[in-house]
Parts: sequence; structure tokens; C-alpha cells
Amino acid sequence: MQRLTCCIVALLLLVVSGGLVYKFILQGDVTPASDERLVILMPEAERHLVLAEMRSFLASVRSVTTAVAMDDADALAKAAQLAGMSAGREMPGSLVGRLPMEFKRLGFDTHRRFDQMALDAKQMGDMPLSLQQLTRVLDNCVSCHATYRIDRMVE
Ligand code: HEC
Repeated sequence: MQRLTCCIVALLLLVVSGGLVYKFILQGDVTPASDERLVILMPEAERHLVLAEMRSFLASVRSVTTAVAMDDADALAKAAQLAGMSAGREMPGSLVGRLPMEFKRLGFDTHRRFDQMALDAKQMGDMPLSLQQLTRVLDNCVSCHATYRIDRMVE
């Protein structure tokens, strides 16, 4: 009997902790929106941080395409590096905690791909390859924008 109670308690704990892992690590702080996207709610200051990073992504895409047009591998490597892992702004833990796993995965993957683009441009200077890599980066931009939106949390 005691063993059975123990098993039930253990099972309950497992379900609860599984639920917590899902809620806080996998799902993040999201609600469905009327435009088919998932809304991530953030305080205004955190929203500004994410959007500023987005604008710098766009600036990097612009610099990379200019570098391709000029056939300038050094400029391309520099532009791509600015959007790489090491260039990532420090994001507060509270913000990271709100982000769904898939959002974080796409975000990291985008930084990582810019790093790879910088490395390959330095080593090979192969512009068609860089353009292909840029397309894969843009796939991430498109895919994340189709899935998520950020609304201001009522503070
Ligand atoms: C991991 C998800 C994700 C990735 C990857 C991503 N974005 Fe975004 N981006 C967002 C979200 C969410 C918003 C806010 C959209 C909204 O609320 O309607 C946004 C907004 C923007 C904005 C508007 C900024 C502003 O000030 O309003 C720009 C520009 C932008 N992204 C560019 C890019 C570019 C370029 C890339 C690829 C190099 C990219 N983003 C990759 C999630 C992402």
C-alpha cells in the first residue's frame, strides 16, 4: 500500500515537473494571436532590446548584399561577423526565460549562420556561396516572423 502511494506521488511529481518544463522552457510565455502568430508578451524595455537586435540584423543583411555586389570578401566577412554569436547583445535572463525554445533555436541558428558566412568569406571569398548562405539566413528570418510577434505586456 505504502509502495503504491509512493508510486502515485512520484508519478504526480513527474507530471507536474514535466508540465513546468513544458511551460517555462519549451513553450515560453506565449499566447495565440488573431493573425495566426504566437504572441510573446514583454515589458517595453525588453521588447526594445529584441527589436534593436532585429534592426541590426537587417543592417547586416544590407551590408552583406552590398559586399556581394562589390565582390568584396573582407567587407562581407566584417558585416556577417557583426551579426554573429559574439556580437549578440547581452539579453537579461528574464527576457530569455520568456522565449519559446523554437524562438531561441532560430535565433541562435541565425547568429551561427552569420559566423559561418564570415568564416567562409575570409577563407574562400566565394560570393555565390555567400549568397546561398544568406538565403538560408533569410529563411530563418521569414520563418520566425511568420510564427511569432512581440506585444507589450501591460505593466
Ligand atoms: C527567432 C525569431 C526571429 C528571427 C530569427 C528573426 N526575427 Fe526579426 N523579428 C522577430 C519578431 C518576433 C519581431 C517582432 C514582430 C512583431 O511584433 O510583429 C521581429 C521584428 C523585426 C524587425 C522590425 C524591427 C522594429 O524595430 O520594429 C526587423 C527589421 C527584423 N525583425 C529583421 C529581421 C531580419 C533581417 C532577420 C534575419 C537576419 C530576423 N529579423 C530574424 C523575430 C525574429
